[in-house]
Amino acid sequence: MFDEIEFDKIKRLPKYVFASINEIKLKMRQNGEDVIDFSMGNPDGPTPNHIIDKLCQAAKKEKNHGYSVSKGIYKLRLSIVNWYKRKYGVNLDPNTEVCVTMGSKEGYVHLVQAITNPGDNAIVCSPAYPIHYYAFILNGANVINIPIKWDDEMLLDYQSYFNDLQKALKSAFPKPKFVVVNFPHNPTTAVVNKDFYEKLVSIAKKERFYIISDIAYAELCFGDFKTPSIFEVDGAKDVAVETYTLSKTYNMAGWRVGFVVGNKKMVEALQKIKSWIDYGMHTPTQIAATIALDGPQDCIVDIRNKYENRMQVLIDSFKGTGFDIKKPKASMFIWAGIPEQYKHLGSLEFCKEILQEAKVAFSPGVGFGENGEGYVRIALIENEKRIRQAARNIKQYLKNKK
Ligand SMILES: Cc1ncc(COP(=O)(O)O)c(C=O)c1O
Repeated sequence: MFDEIEFDKIKRLPKYVFASINEIKLKMRQNGEDVIDFSMGNPDGPTPNHIIDKLCQAAKKEKNHGYSVSKGIYKLRLSIVNWYKRKYGVNLDPNTEVCVTMGSKEGYVHLVQAITNPGDNAIVCSPAYPIHYYAFILNGANVINIPIKWDDEMLLDYQSYFNDLQKALKSAFPKPKFVVVNFPHNPTTAVVNKDFYEKLVSIAKKERFYIISDIAYAELCFGDFKTPSIFEVDGAKDVAVETYTLSKTYNMAGWRVGFVVGNKKMVEALQKIKSWIDYGMHTPTQIAATIALDGPQDCIVDIRNKYENRMQVLIDSFKGTGFDIKKPKASMFIWAGIPEQYKHLGSLEFCKEILQEAKVAFSPGVGFGENGEGYVRIALIENEKRIRQAARNIKQYLKNKK
């Protein structure tokens, strides 16, 4: 019906590459098969009790049942300001430099919607968390990909990144207005230190572009590595915003709490568009989020340890499978090179085969962009016992293939 009426914008979104893996997974589960599922970055533990208790208390108060404030209640914006002060020594204005969002994904998409004109150019790493590209594509902008590389310690190869960035800035027309970075990086787990941001901010000021930095995995870092914030660089607020989420740090993925902070012009654009689109997040959830940020932080140590232990178990138990695995410094993922003899299949076919034959679900690297080909992303959301079981299943599958 109405074939002449086209929805052009939605056509700019391709079929989700992960959808075919999800479909197979669903069918297998419906047939009663046990799938060991490493495919989605969906934290598996419970939200800490003190946060749940606060939600329950706040939910019982009638005054919290009405519409909320679209940019977030003042108390939560203040908790965010205090979190930045404590963690990074950074000062933010709770009114003009902070916006609460319904998860950082919602914040990112609406920010991009608010600040992008059709035909703009944005520079995004490749591979990337898919919405980092597609928010721009949906808004009629174009994306220039910078393929990223890293060393054995999973530190980003700065030289290659900045060479490609400078090339893109010189050659692209119109001149790129936005650069998106995301470290610790999903999917590769690559990290950067503060010196990366120093250089990026100085280039942004010279070449005149805005930076959006997503630090969703900031707290999931191991050993001596501490995730830096771009705002530790003096003057970064002139050119940058940072997005963050409670999803990963406090096992609160379903609660949908995130925030965007920093550059006043960008934050105010986001606050404005949100004031038209939504009435703010459920107030009791926002109140509970203040407790997550202000309350005891030992739960983060437990969550961090859980992922780090799983990482080690996976690395040890996958020895001999042919996967190329380097230990991450941060995140909840492992970015594993596909065994040489199966690379020709491509990551999507390889994942389908592993799923059907070994009953183990990974995310195909190509789903994160063409530079993700040759890899799979393993989200560490299964316990240690099941990680070992997955390794056994894969070894058996590889043996049968010979
Ligand atoms: C890099 C990155 N940013 C943002 C998000 C979205 O998080 P949220 O739950 O806050 O929307 C994710 C989720 O996987 C992510 O990997």
